[in-house]
Amino acid sequence: MTESAGPRFERLLVTGGAGFIGSCFVRDLLARRDGRRITVLDKLTYAGNPANLAPVEADPEQAARFRFVVGDIADPAAVGLLVAEADAVVNFAAESHVDRSILDPEAFLRTDVLGVHVLLEACRIERERARKGERTAAPRLLQVSTDEVYGSVETGASVEDDRLEPRSPYSAAKAAGELLVNSYFVTYGVDVVTTRGSNTYGPYHYPEKLIPLFVTNAIDDQQLPLYGDGLQRRDWLYVSDHAGAIEHVLEHGEPGGVYNVPGEAERANREVVTALLERLGKPWSLVRSVADRPGHDRRYAMDGSRLAALGWRNRTTFEDGLAATIDWYVANEAWWRPIKSGEFQDYYRRQYEARLAGSREAS
Ligand code: NAD
Ligand code: TYD
Repeated sequence: MTESAGPRFERLLVTGGAGFIGSCFVRDLLARRDGRRITVLDKLTYAGNPANLAPVEADPEQAARFRFVVGDIADPAAVGLLVAEADAVVNFAAESHVDRSILDPEAFLRTDVLGVHVLLEACRIERERARKGERTAAPRLLQVSTDEVYGSVETGASVEDDRLEPRSPYSAAKAAGELLVNSYFVTYGVDVVTTRGSNTYGPYHYPEKLIPLFVTNAIDDQQLPLYGDGLQRRDWLYVSDHAGAIEHVLEHGEPGGVYNVPGEAERANREVVTALLERLGKPWSLVRSVADRPGHDRRYAMDGSRLAALGWRNRTTFEDGLAATIDWYVANEAWWRPIKSGEFQDYYRRQYEARLAGSREAS
């Protein structure tokens, strides 16, 4: 199919579409006004927030092509009905924070493994219906995965055929989800594609991850808990580039294909913190050196040749993306202040109280 023929999939089921990356995908796609329709299925966990989709609801043309269903991807009844109506499923739904997976691994298995299985079963049933002529084509499932499935990469860059060596309950659950996805391709011929994105940042990011936590804490002159020596390295990907790459793979990816989505911006955590403090005009003395994360992966890095060969290019440099992100948090306190005053406070105490009590000024 050529570009001018328009998008390949018209009715999308976007699971986890009220979260950080999923909501960006939904906002960006509907804003193109190309007739595509989206149903979001989201459980609205602590990380899911209908306010992330407010720009869609506020635009009558987009709102008419959008539907929100509150529900769990691990619920076969809810999933079965929605997959039956979809041309493609894009699965963002997950428990997504490594530190929470260390405190409470079970929810990660339920959503990131069993939930993926429920989506796959629904796709398998729809594929059978297509074979019997009960629908025109079988649905495609895109599984949104992560560079963390490769484990810590001391040198070089991971390629898609490398071994999966996850080291946290989060990344182990994501790897298990991916293995199930591949098994449904090999065994049942379900049309699947998988993306492995790197550390993503941008507006509407729940303020528990490094960048939004440190930006919002710094705005309030609160301490910034830097784990260990702060020399861990991550590859940073701007959220609209991540969402765009996912759409590109959905449209153009080979059935059964796996695609790395690197940000091409590898930085040590200390460099990221220095840059964000500089933009906010806040001092380094806010940074506290705290006890490290157990099993902390030292570095992630991926080779992006396969995705580049598919025709995708990122558009946002780390400097531009970080500036836009920080400015968004400065301008949108009404979005993040209610979040930080709710459930977040219990989590923050559990995760950081003892660490900060035993902390020292970071060198
Ligand atoms: P997020 O935590 O911001 O959002 C997750 C969303 O999924 C929330 O809206 C939540 O309510 C929903 N959800 C959770 N469990 C659900 C369930 N059982 N049923 C239905 N909905 C459920 O996550 P994110 O940062 O937007 O990440 C989205 C996806 O991208 C995840 O699969 C994650 O593993 C992957 N990923 C994230 C990053 C990153 O840096 N944030 C990088 C690479 C890959
Ligand atoms: P995070 O945003 O949690 O993403 P991930 O663990 O998925 O890479 O963390 C990014 C890096 O920042 C990681 O090396 C851990 C570190 N970090 C801190 O030093 N302090 C913090 O409070 C957080 C949340 C992360």
